[in-house]
Amino acid sequence: MGKRGRFGKYGEVKRLARLREAKLGPRTFYNAPDIHKRKNSGLPRHKTLVESVALRKAREEDRQFIRYLSKKVFREYGPYDITIPRWFDSGAVVTIVAFMESLPVGFAILGPLVSKMPISGESELLAIAVEPTRQRRGIGSLLMERILDEAKSLGIRRISLHTAQRNIPAQRLFKKYGFVIKEKKTNFYVGGQDAVLMRKELSDTFPEDVFD
Ligand SMILES: CC(C)(COP(=O)(O)OP(=O)(O)OC[C@H]1O[C@@H](n2cnc3c(N)ncnc32)[C@H](O)[C@@H]1OP(=O)(O)O)[C@@H](O)C(=O)NCCC(=O)NCCS
Repeated sequence: MGKRGRFGKYGEVKRLARLREAKLGPRTFYNAPDIHKRKNSGLPRHKTLVESVALRKAREEDRQFIRYLSKKVFREYGPYDITIPRWFDSGAVVTIVAFMESLPVGFAILGPLVSKMPISGESELLAIAVEPTRQRRGIGSLLMERILDEAKSLGIRRISLHTAQRNIPAQRLFKKYGFVIKEKKTNFYVGGQDAVLMRKELSDTFPEDVFD
């Protein structure tokens, strides 16, 4: 597999360097509670009450869950169960975790927040994921809304993201929140899949536009 795309010169390797030295925590494993192992939680789609979902910034104790869910939903694209916890460890990101019944059910990571910030005003939604048995109940939307709020409060003016070209559910979520496909990136992931770069402007004027 080539060192292209996300894992190549301009990809994850370089990104990680930007996110400071990774400080790996203890290599313990998250034991998914039964709530995550059920094939079907019994709740009809879209019936989760938003009031039953709590959001907060991630803590060290959430690291195992982030690793567990990353492995579950991103494994086909590459070693994201390693990469995403490293982003979290970097301290240069904002990580939000969603909870239901006190159990983590999803997370989203925005970064990097070093070097280029706030000069460029651009940040990247590095990952967003919801436990598969809890998807399609609005949790991804809640995470997205919180990430947008965090970005605005940090003065971020543009958010970009990469997602697999064939990941239509994710693209629909992003489009719902105003992200637009800007570019296709061939062979972006270590698994060989193509990606699309999507972007959303949070501000009318982005620094480079000021000089147009
Ligand atoms: C993408 C993801 C985070 C969405 O989370 P979610 O909790 O299911 O999202 P929501 O229930 O808030 O749905 C929001 C919108 O996303 C779209 N969507 C979500 N799942 C969808 C699906 N299976 N099919 C079609 N559209 C879907 C819809 O437009 C939906 O809006 P609607 O309910 O008004 O139709 C979730 O599917 C997931 O974790 N996927 C695996 C990880 C991933 O691919 N992450 C994105 C790349 S980083």
